Amino acid sequence: MKTKRDFLTIKDFTAAEIASLMERAADFKNGKAVGNKPLLGRSIGMLFYKTSTRTRISFEVGIYQLGGQPLYIRPGESQLSRDETIADTARVFSRYLNGIVIRTFEHKIAAEFAECSSVPVINGLTDTHHPCQILADLMTIKEKKGQFKGIKIAYIGDGNNVANSLIEAAVLMDMSLTVASPEGYEPALKDTSGRITIVRDPKEAAAGADVLYTDVWVSMGDKEDGEEKRLKFAAYQINDALMSYAKPDCTVLHCLPAHRGEEITDSVIEGPQSAVFDQAENRLHTQKAVLEMLIK
Ligand code: CP
Ligand code: NVA
Repeated sequence: MKTKRDFLTIKDFTAAEIASLMERAADFKNGKAVGNKPLLGRSIGMLFYKTSTRTRISFEVGIYQLGGQPLYIRPGESQLSRDETIADTARVFSRYLNGIVIRTFEHKIAAEFAECSSVPVINGLTDTHHPCQILADLMTIKEKKGQFKGIKIAYIGDGNNVANSLIEAAVLMDMSLTVASPEGYEPALKDTSGRITIVRDPKEAAAGADVLYTDVWVSMGDKEDGEEKRLKFAAYQINDALMSYAKPDCTVLHCLPAHRGEEITDSVIEGPQSAVFDQAENRLHTQKAVLEMLIK
């Protein structure tokens, strides 16, 4: 019988668990959990098919701070590149490691890895989900707005992995989320809770929002790139004009990396309402809370 727990999507946690992860992450951030080494003697593998700045560094540093050893593994430098199967790799990893962070393309690869591993698997981003990012976003919203219930978020742009995980979080934490995407780029994730609205007009989404959120127009692994796509997204930019529709004290989030001048302007990302670097920092604190909870 399986006793380990994975974190592949936001739905793997309950609202109460997310609330307690937020409290624990705040303890880590505020120095109240110093000396706490739950990963002492433990090794965590980090299998990354895609590049990363924040996820890689925040996990490596977080694992070290909790007393553990991170191992960064690129598939091209392992026998995965010579057709060793995911199933066999996951079984072998489980004999050495106490947990695995995976960043991959198709979500089903992460799911198969988790299915075949006897140790917890944490999703460090797939084509359709980015749950670790969203935990940091939730922490940032809590810091800036003091609560989740009733908070109105507008997500402007591509209905990608970040948008999907944000949808799951909004439903779970009782927030309202309006997504504005160009035709054909709406989030694939369907929701029937009534908390999620999909619109075409970014101004309609931004109207009265407490939080404005965006992400790149072209994600890692996206097949469609180039001028034609950028033209379709031209109206989906968080700029000063769009900010004027949101609440005067709205917070601006971006998971980063940003393409300044595309989905967000310099003046907004550098402006007083931007919380993007707090958001990036919070990856460290929230992931430490997840590691402490899941790794035995
Ligand atoms: N936000 C995020 O996941 O960034 P990286 O791709 O740099 O890890
Ligand atoms: N949607 C982006 C997020 C990067 C952190 C991507 O998948 O490339």
